[in-house]
Amino acid sequence: MSKKFQSPKGVKDVLPAEQSYWQYVEKIMQRTAQLFGYEKISLPVFEETALFLRGVGEGTDIVDKEMYTFLDKGNLSMTLRPEFTAGVMRSYLQNGMASLPTPVKLWSTGPVFRYERPQAGRFRQHTQFNVEAIGEQDPALDFEIMSVAWSLYDQLGFKNLGFQINSIGCPECRPAYLKKLTAYYKTHVDQICDDCKKRLDKNPLRVLDCKKSSCQPIIEKAPPMIENLCKDCDSHFKKLLDYLGHLKRPCQLNHRLVRGLDYYTKTVFEVWAEGIGAQNAVCGGGRYDGLTEILGGPPTPAVGFASGIERIVMILQNGTHPPEMGGSDIYVATMGETAKSKGVELLTQLREKGFKAIMGYGDRSFKAQMREADRRNVKYTVILGEEEIQRKEAVIKCMKDSKQESLPVESLSDYFLNLGLLIE
Ligand code: HAM
Repeated sequence: MSKKFQSPKGVKDVLPAEQSYWQYVEKIMQRTAQLFGYEKISLPVFEETALFLRGVGEGTDIVDKEMYTFLDKGNLSMTLRPEFTAGVMRSYLQNGMASLPTPVKLWSTGPVFRYERPQAGRFRQHTQFNVEAIGEQDPALDFEIMSVAWSLYDQLGFKNLGFQINSIGCPECRPAYLKKLTAYYKTHVDQICDDCKKRLDKNPLRVLDCKKSSCQPIIEKAPPMIENLCKDCDSHFKKLLDYLGHLKRPCQLNHRLVRGLDYYTKTVFEVWAEGIGAQNAVCGGGRYDGLTEILGGPPTPAVGFASGIERIVMILQNGTHPPEMGGSDIYVATMGETAKSKGVELLTQLREKGFKAIMGYGDRSFKAQMREADRRNVKYTVILGEEEIQRKEAVIKCMKDSKQESLPVESLSDYFLNLGLLIE
């Protein structure tokens, strides 16, 4: 018996019925990137494994547990990208983008792979909208990056969103803070979970991120990073909060927010939304001033974020109506052989002029064609019968109010043009 194949665990097919949401999000994503002056960069889906080991950091869950790594035929270790930032910075350095006017502002989109435990809103292949601004220390640029996320969600009609925000310092102030944090945790070592005991040695900042209930009271009273920032990080953070305050962007200081990637310095932020499963971050990002040096380049400050499109689509689907897109606007229905031939001609002309038009195929009765037009949700049906052909006319039926009118065939494209049906 032959095997029936299923998609691999934790990945999903985006079926035609869901595509209108994706097209809508993609359109607004591109519009937002343009609005803020970001240029598109497309990158390979796989990179040398070492790029992520160094860039994202050994000791992170992504690197230690979640990467899809394989040896290629030349015995080189390659990894399907588990995120965009390391690849963007590799490309920035490789292609001498430091000589471009700063900040260099880049956006990308595409699949990202992480071997995670699948659940609602968490997939092993997801799609990111990724935005980076490279080459400036200015906290106004952190604000801009957060505004790109804000604008995207605002245009998509998301309500009641707010930023979670924190500063996790820099190599100047973080080591002293980590010592303080570790010393505090050592006094509670018998109350914390085994994972946190390991984190204290490997990646102490991550203890603040622990979800186990036994660790919550300890996290609650832990010294917050923002009270231990150096002068530079402190002033950077205050200026950013000032910009956010002035522009009335709701944000909540969250001293537990440390993010799961090692490259961050200073600002880290997320936007949370309900209804998208256990992992409720719709986006996450922050500043990463040290990444170029980790990758062998000159010091280059940078800031960015990424948002998962599957999670955005889930939020839209929880809303009221799917965005109207994707389908056809015009259905050509014909009665009789001569009309069918005229119909094929008209359909071809309408498409050449830039209208989204379809027609009924096969030996479908007129009634069946009208039913199909209805099911396909077109806006107008053009009806061609023998009589109409004689008069060089067609009947246009508006599907919304069922009103019909006869028009000369040659005036149809102007008619649809005036209705604004030209494809964008
Ligand atoms: P991240 O927080 O790991 O950050 O991922 C960004 C976003 O991708 C998340 O907020 C979420 O919307 C989505 N996401 C992550 N994992 C999954 C998953 N398994 N299933 C579905 N959606 C997911 C980064 O990747 C950083 N590179 C962001 C960044 C850019 N920081 C600076 N620049």
